[in-house]
Amino acid sequence: MKILTVVGARPQFIKAAAVTKAIQAVNMERGHPPGKENIEEIMVHTGQHYDYDMDRIFFQELGLREPGYHLGIGSASHGEQTGRMLQGIEEVLLREGPDVVMVYGDTNSTLAGALAACKLHFPLAHVEAGLRSYNRAMPEEINRVIVDHVSSFLFCPTKNAVTNLKKEGIIDGAITVAHVGDVMYDSVLYNLKIAREKSEILRELGLRANNRSPSSPDYALVTLHRAENTDNPQRLRNIFKALDEVSQRLLAIFPLHPRTKKTTEGLGIRGKGKNLRLIGPVSYFDMLLLERNARVILTDSGGVQKEAFWFGVPCITLREETEWVETVEYGWNRLVGANTRRIINAVHEALKPQQAPPTGKGEGIYGDGRTGEKIVTILWDRISGNPR
Ligand code: UD1
Ligand code: UDP
Repeated sequence: MKILTVVGARPQFIKAAAVTKAIQAVNMERGHPPGKENIEEIMVHTGQHYDYDMDRIFFQELGLREPGYHLGIGSASHGEQTGRMLQGIEEVLLREGPDVVMVYGDTNSTLAGALAACKLHFPLAHVEAGLRSYNRAMPEEINRVIVDHVSSFLFCPTKNAVTNLKKEGIIDGAITVAHVGDVMYDSVLYNLKIAREKSEILRELGLRANNRSPSSPDYALVTLHRAENTDNPQRLRNIFKALDEVSQRLLAIFPLHPRTKKTTEGLGIRGKGKNLRLIGPVSYFDMLLLERNARVILTDSGGVQKEAFWFGVPCITLREETEWVETVEYGWNRLVGANTRRIINAVHEALKPQQAPPTGKGEGIYGDGRTGEKIVTILWDRISGNPR
């Protein structure tokens, strides 16, 4: 079986690494060691993300092989970026003739991979299917909806995702809809131990591993990159105003996404808070440790909301809605939008010592850490039994 994987943006390198590892594990289990693989994977990198700290560093840390194809598309408007990717991926598909094309999440690389595959009648597997914010102003929502409707294999991270698909008439039967869990959870479980051994970030930033120790500085961790926040000057200013105030009393570590760096610089927003530390994007291992040891996380990232949940760190989401509704239902995540006062109040609430989430940790709702293997096994069983 030949799987053609399309990636391009930071979170996709992390997700794909978990599945690549699972492909190797399934090959080994079935007596097909490296060089004699039964399941072959070819990776296409669209080049959507390209800075060293948004791209290569993840390949290095996660031990991913060089992509078989690098399209080098880079940044552009939605139409131009997606169109150029589509053209490039189509050429690769025609040359490689894979048994299945695998796409991850909801970026423009996901959409381009999906369109290229379905137009050429290659079966399409969508990892992280069924997520919905029901906000069509988000480019990601458009991408998800389209990709889900043209996929042959919909790998859902949660039960809610399966339900969302059902509401749109997408059900298991002629196509496969499987509740498999979340590959990012596989990744966290596997990589946290390695991160603890390899990452120097806590020492470099003068933080300590045990944030409950009285001598270690408590800190908030912040990430921001959604277009709805970065491309709306009022929302961006409101968020920075809140961070300025919060960081008067709490150290705030803020690894800046390049998009956010660009827009804040353009608007002259500098972040004046006494203890607001703007740094560049950090590696995955560094990020895991920063998250794990934070007192509170403020973010508009999908992945970071879940990682906060898995680490049991209170999360404040700088959006009006979330696809990851379980994190809110279980009491670990609060949606506050870009309202300065609501952000500040939510941080104060999160810092209160009695703020134990009310409903337990939600064990198992994102799978058991073996989602990658489930995906590979399903593909193998369905595709090798039905060759094209
Ligand atoms: C993209 C995804 C988003 C995902 C995020 C993960 C889409 C529509 N959006 O958003 O769903 O959550 O990736 O991080 O696909 N830039 C650089 N260097 C880079 C990459 C980007 O400087 O390596 C800057 C460029 O100015 C670019 C801007 O960031 O125009 C936005 O990049 P883009 O890939 O279009 O969207 P993201 O905001 O990264
Ligand atoms: N991440 C990282 N370094 C950073 C910020 C995020 O390694 O500086 C990781 C984070 O731990 C998570 C993933 O990137 O695993 C989330 O990606 P991002 O926030 O860019 O996108 P989203 O999940 O919102 O699509």
